[in-house]
Amino acid sequence: MKTQIGAKDILFPVPPALIVTGLEDNRNIITIAWIGIVGSKPPAIGISLHKSRYSLSLLRQTGEFTVNIPSKSDYIKVDYCGITSGKKRNKFKDTGFTKIDGTKVKVPIIKECPLNIECKIIKELDMSDWILIIGEILEINIDSDKINPDGKVSVEKVNPLIYVPTIREYWSIGQKLGNSFDVGRNYNQTSQSTNK
Ligand SMILES: Cc1cc2nc3c(=O)[nH]c(=O)nc-3n(C[C@H](O)[C@H](O)[C@H](O)COP(=O)(O)O)c2cc1C
Repeated sequence: MKTQIGAKDILFPVPPALIVTGLEDNRNIITIAWIGIVGSKPPAIGISLHKSRYSLSLLRQTGEFTVNIPSKSDYIKVDYCGITSGKKRNKFKDTGFTKIDGTKVKVPIIKECPLNIECKIIKELDMSDWILIIGEILEINIDSDKINPDGKVSVEKVNPLIYVPTIREYWSIGQKLGNSFDVGRNYNQTSQSTNK
């Protein structure tokens, strides 16, 4: 049995990201849950902002932004950046997050976030009360100590924070289940042999 709960903006889990915007004397951080990769060549990311957000005007000023993926330990600061406006507060000062220079954009990245994505805006889409901003990904920065000797990112060391929008809860990541583009092959073999 299924329960229908109507047409709602529900999809979970998502990475609650810290988006840095703003010119040099006015850098701001906004927490964003409506985010996702939308293309690979060029690599592109979409973020959706309500039209009322102060950060939207800052994004339009800079034409660039950075996406910073926080560790689970920073969940309280992430929430703070999502309930406080940069119009009234300096969220860098309040949270103690450290700005470091981006390599491809003028907007800084957040040192304490293990994964940082540098983007330039290539498109804006009007979605009624929301604006979908598409950014081309120009560079990815990962804490060197969170890359395993085999060159793969260590999910355990990055320990990204997870957000469940519908129930408004922060969670941490669970355990690895398997490798993608791989475990499905075993399923095919098993089901084929079962069907014989
Ligand atoms: C977990 C979480 C996720 C959020 N996701 C979004 C989002 O995807 N888009 C958006 O416009 N606002 C989102 N918000 C709300 C903004 O972060 C919030 O309005 C913020 O105070 C705006 O900051 P600003 O005024 O400095 O731009 C989210 C808030 C929280 C706590």
